[in-house]
Amino acid sequence: MSFELITTRTEGRVGIVTLNRPKQLNALNDQLMNELGQALKGFDDDADIGCMIVTGSEKAFAAGADIGAMAKYTFADVYSGDYITRNWETIRSVRKPVIAAVSGFALGGGCELAMMCDFIIAADNAKFGQPEIKLGIIPGAGGTQRLPRAVGKAKAMDMALTGRMMDATEAERAGLVSRVVPLDKLMDEALGAALMICEYSLPSVMAAKECVNRAFEGGLRVLHAARQWPPADH
Ligand code: CAA
Repeated sequence: MSFELITTRTEGRVGIVTLNRPKQLNALNDQLMNELGQALKGFDDDADIGCMIVTGSEKAFAAGADIGAMAKYTFADVYSGDYITRNWETIRSVRKPVIAAVSGFALGGGCELAMMCDFIIAADNAKFGQPEIKLGIIPGAGGTQRLPRAVGKAKAMDMALTGRMMDATEAERAGLVSRVVPLDKLMDEALGAALMICEYSLPSVMAAKECVNRAFEGGLRVLHAARQWPPADH
């Protein structure tokens, strides 16, 4: 498969996707999100791949949804075209683990994309934020849902309402990222984690991912009900 706005490569059983719109700081447009979804689904379907990494450039993981492209959208365009849901959610249907290796800006949709991955390893120059309020809009791809679950209401409100950025140290302290490493060690660290995951039983890895994501995204009562076996009518 050939792509224009991302590059892909493999290291052992790890599939690596690099966002590649450097002039626009990896701003996320339709084409990029389509390509990212295709690449991740391709790796997910590939029996030789056990884990994936999504990364960007040193300056920007992704500076958000493409503001220029969005400027033309009307409400009717967004609603009828299923903007965001149509291709941004593909990553959430990937069953093997996806690690975000974040350096530089992860803003707006970029922060939301990182949060859609299973965990985030950050370089010490990473900056996270939901600056949509400065554009007169609100986060549209999980920033008002995943961010409060990750960092709590106080910090999520602060970020969504003021648009301020969080540096890597604060992001780790708040629970948004799992590890912070020097910029030049970012890919080694992410690759080390991914290769370790590839050593484990794939069904167990997939089940662990699914369970943590269900616990993170669902209600605890539903999980409790789902655990009852045999079902009550047996
Ligand atoms: N969309 C489109 N283009 C973008 C972009 C974005 N989100 N972010 C940066 N760019 C472009 C800039 O327009 C600029 O292009 P030109 O050279 O053609 O002018 C180029 O990338 C470099 O950007 P800057 O010159 O601004 O670089 P900087 O180092 O001075 O600042 C920055 C970096 C702080 C990230 C700044 O670019 C910025 O604030 N970007 C916008 C961030 C933002 O608002 N993101 C939220 C978008 S809305 C969203 O994501 C909705 C959602 O929830 C899905």
